[in-house]
Amino acid sequence: KVPVITIDGPTASGKGTVAQQVADALGFHYLDSGALYRLTALASLKIGIDENDVDTLVELAQDIHIVFREGCVRLDGEDVSLDIRAESVGNRASAIAVHGALRQALIARQRAFRVPPGLVADGRDMGTVIFPDASLKVFLTASVEARADRRYKQLIEKGFSAKLDDLSRDLRARDDRDSQRAAAPLKPADDALTLDTSNLDVDQTVQTVVGWFRE
Ligand code: CDP
Repeated sequence: KVPVITIDGPTASGKGTVAQQVADALGFHYLDSGALYRLTALASLKIGIDENDVDTLVELAQDIHIVFREGCVRLDGEDVSLDIRAESVGNRASAIAVHGALRQALIARQRAFRVPPGLVADGRDMGTVIFPDASLKVFLTASVEARADRRYKQLIEKGFSAKLDDLSRDLRARDDRDSQRAAAPLKPADDALTLDTSNLDVDQTVQTVVGWFRE
């Protein structure tokens, strides 16, 4: 079986950066599952449907054409790497991710990323639902303050404007929604190793995860 490392955790816990670097260190492929929710969210905003129009969301999730290549992502041929990082898209992604039928519609697309020599997958339910047989499951956490701070820097770096207060508030709202939804709520898998990154930098976190995998 192709090995998989799952990295789950709350919003802005640093999963994306860490997962990408762990994948690079091991020569594995990388799945940013949140990007699939963000792409569906962006597509839904573009055609102007309601966030609770589940049937149309499911159709969108199945029909949109997605290509990940060299750090860029294309939606139906258009480079949307930056567009999907907007807070408006992240908030819409979090809102539509509560729908069980939409989550179901994205399962096959996510599992298709499992190809040799291996995969690092980040998200909310990688270890619990999508890859329950993963070789290593990591649950990344960090304090709300550390996460709001990281998200702030990330947005400013990309040229978006942001306010720390608003970010902390949105972050808590997303935490609540992610952990309280009925479909695949955010929680560590029973066999996950938890890592609090509040006081760790990216390098230290990556080294810890790679070390666990090699053990
Ligand atoms: O880092 P942030 O949480 O803002 O975003 P993300 O990881 O790109 O995911 C965007 C949204 O999609 C999250 O707020 C989750 O609600 C949802 N999501 C999910 O439900 N399951 C996943 N495996 C990945 C993301």
